[in-house]
Amino acid sequence: MLETRFTRLVGCTVPIQLAGMGGVSVPALVAAVTAAGGLGMLGAAPASMPDRIDVLDAMGCSLRGANFLGPFLNPEEFEATIERVRLAEVFWREPDPALVEQIHAAGALAGWQVGSVDDARAAADAGCDIVVAQGVEAGGHVQGQIGLLPLLGAVVDAVGDDVVVVAAGGIGSARAMAAALAAGAQAVRIGTRFVASAESGAHPDYKAALVAAGADETVLSEEFGRTTGWPDAPNRVLRAALDEASAFDGDVVAQLHLPGSDASFPVARFDTLPPLAECEGNVSAMAQYAGQSVGDVRAVQPAAEIVRELAEGAEALLSAAR
Ligand SMILES: Cc1cc2nc3c(=O)[nH]c(=O)nc-3n(C[C@H](O)[C@H](O)[C@H](O)COP(=O)(O)O)c2cc1C
Repeated sequence: MLETRFTRLVGCTVPIQLAGMGGVSVPALVAAVTAAGGLGMLGAAPASMPDRIDVLDAMGCSLRGANFLGPFLNPEEFEATIERVRLAEVFWREPDPALVEQIHAAGALAGWQVGSVDDARAAADAGCDIVVAQGVEAGGHVQGQIGLLPLLGAVVDAVGDDVVVVAAGGIGSARAMAAALAAGAQAVRIGTRFVASAESGAHPDYKAALVAAGADETVLSEEFGRTTGWPDAPNRVLRAALDEASAFDGDVVAQLHLPGSDASFPVARFDTLPPLAECEGNVSAMAQYAGQSVGDVRAVQPAAEIVRELAEGAEALLSAAR
């Protein structure tokens, strides 16, 4: 069902990629998405990537990917990870042929998330197997300025047939998934819908805020991150979270408790960290990243149910259109 060049290349059965979302895409969520037929991805988080891959091994989840954020990429962690994943990808850095070569030498597929046609071409020229076209509707950090559909068409035309294109940004329904596939994407990358999954590492109040919010209740700003080492980086969040943080009187909005220890860290106002289950305090003033797909979040659901709803719905829509 819905076999594409992405599913054949990666070795999964459903053309859905979980966005690697820091402390949100925890091993339980990665394993659930892969078990449902998609590709589960780990993201940059305080806990080390190899340690989290050990957890996936213990869960019997051998098909997985890892996402790295350019500004925080640690070469040792990168090296220790890429030989243990099917797909290693980078975001927020100029496409880099040396990193792509390193990934290939470790036996993994290489991917890059981009927000413009020029960067897509650069990623293809750098040797990437997969290019993720991210539209401005996306939740979290957003590199480009144009909507997914105009970007996707141009990226598909620009990179040629040897590169698999994945669509990201605002895809929360079977209709949107079908549209992206019909427009030339070989898979869709889903963030916000999976933040509101039962298995995600997001704080319950953050999940509830996503359920309550409509598609017109997100905003793109550079406020979150300006206090914590990732300035000048536009990101899309729930408008209510930005309003709460702006009105907050104080420097520390919450505490992050480290699992398995008594240690905790203060979360500064406008920190980049999204509200995780281990956070305590005013989590409604933290970076509640959300794409315009948030309008399609109607309940907190098991990840497998989300995968099934999107994949079966998209398949039915695409065959009805034929
Ligand atoms: C909570 C959250 C965290 C994210 N973290 C990352 C990340 O660490 N690396 C990355 O490449 N993209 C990250 N993204 C962006 C996703 O890769 C993707 O482009 C986006 O979620 C797609 O839009 P959607 O949220 O409407 O599905 C994040 C998105 C969210 C919602």
